[in-house]
Amino acid sequence: MSLDTIFKGQRVLVTGGAGQIGSHLVAALVQRGAQVSVADSLWRGKREHLAPGGQPLIDMDRDFHQVDLTDAAACAQVTANCDLVYHLADVVAGINYVFGNQFSLFNTNLRIDSNMLHAAVANKVPKYVYVGTACSYPAALSVSDAEGRTPLFREEQVYPALPESSYGWSKLMGEYHAELAMNEGLLQVGLLRFHNVYGPHCEMSPERSQVIPSLIRKAIRHPDEPYVVWGSGKQRRAFVYVDDIVDALLRVVDVGLGRGAIQIGPDYSTSIRELAEEIARISGKDIDISYDPTRREGDGDRAADWRKAREVLGWEPRVSLTEGLARTYDWCRHAMAKAG
Ligand SMILES: NC(=O)c1ccc[n+]([C@@H]2O[C@H](COP(=O)([O-])OP(=O)(O)OC[C@H]3O[C@@H](n4cnc5c(N)ncnc54)[C@H](O)[C@@H]3O)[C@@H](O)[C@H]2O)c1
Repeated sequence: MSLDTIFKGQRVLVTGGAGQIGSHLVAALVQRGAQVSVADSLWRGKREHLAPGGQPLIDMDRDFHQVDLTDAAACAQVTANCDLVYHLADVVAGINYVFGNQFSLFNTNLRIDSNMLHAAVANKVPKYVYVGTACSYPAALSVSDAEGRTPLFREEQVYPALPESSYGWSKLMGEYHAELAMNEGLLQVGLLRFHNVYGPHCEMSPERSQVIPSLIRKAIRHPDEPYVVWGSGKQRRAFVYVDDIVDALLRVVDVGLGRGAIQIGPDYSTSIRELAEEIARISGKDIDISYDPTRREGDGDRAADWRKAREVLGWEPRVSLTEGLARTYDWCRHAMAKAG
């Protein structure tokens, strides 16, 4: 069936729908005629992401639920009468927050994911999409080889598991739990595993932002805020633009349910040093980049062997890093100007 028709009239819940990925997904679903509701605690998401250009995408009084999904009763309430649940809500943040809050983050994500899955099963939701992360790959494999080649992960290499952070563990447990429900025929499950996502509607605060919005904020504020890269800058990530992520989220419901985890990301990585240089270039400012080697930098290197995404979903990355960064920079500049 066509992606333009399968969502028409469907009652779709997006948890984390006020967040970076969720808000773009809500827009795509509304555009395709779905009846969308959103559940989000606004821990990191924002209401204004659901009103691009000032026009609300959904009826905020009726269909927006500001709830904490660690509360099982809230999960039961928001999953009632849904044809499809996209479960995107979890604690997501930059490396400093992740490694500074390992216990509470693991605890929170496990509770959110477990409550949501139980509620979806109890309310007989037929279709459920869960999203995992490339942070779940074993830390020992997430490094370049002796010749400097990037490991291109296949989906099954996530096991035997030994992720670096409790965030990676929590998201892998979420995948595993959802697979168990699917294997017992309790509901149909779509599983996507994303590499590093970026784009508009990102969190920009120093406390919780991820690397791209953090560097963009520093570039915009330069010279008032120092343009410092955390770590050596040699660490590498496979960045994927949010529009490509939304494309995969739509496709998985059409042709990817019951097909196991599918990785979404490019088959090349970019060093944080290259990223910092590109963002400095986009800013048009004369910026000297400095590095803080005392800061943690996470996995060394990783990217996606995305053949499964192409074969199962017909997915491919479309937005180049250069184009995606320019669009993100522009959005951040407007958002910061608006916030004063
Ligand atoms: N951004 C990435 O690089 C990336 C990579 C891989 C996977 N993911 C996954 O994609 C999903 C969406 O991530 P995102 O980048 O849009 O991040 P995000 O922080 O913008 O979105 C997550 C949303 O969940 C909400 N939330 C957090 N705790 C909650 C709670 N207790 N109850 C209800 N809502 C709560 C937040 O307010 C936020 O709006 C997450 O599950 C994340 O693990 C993201």
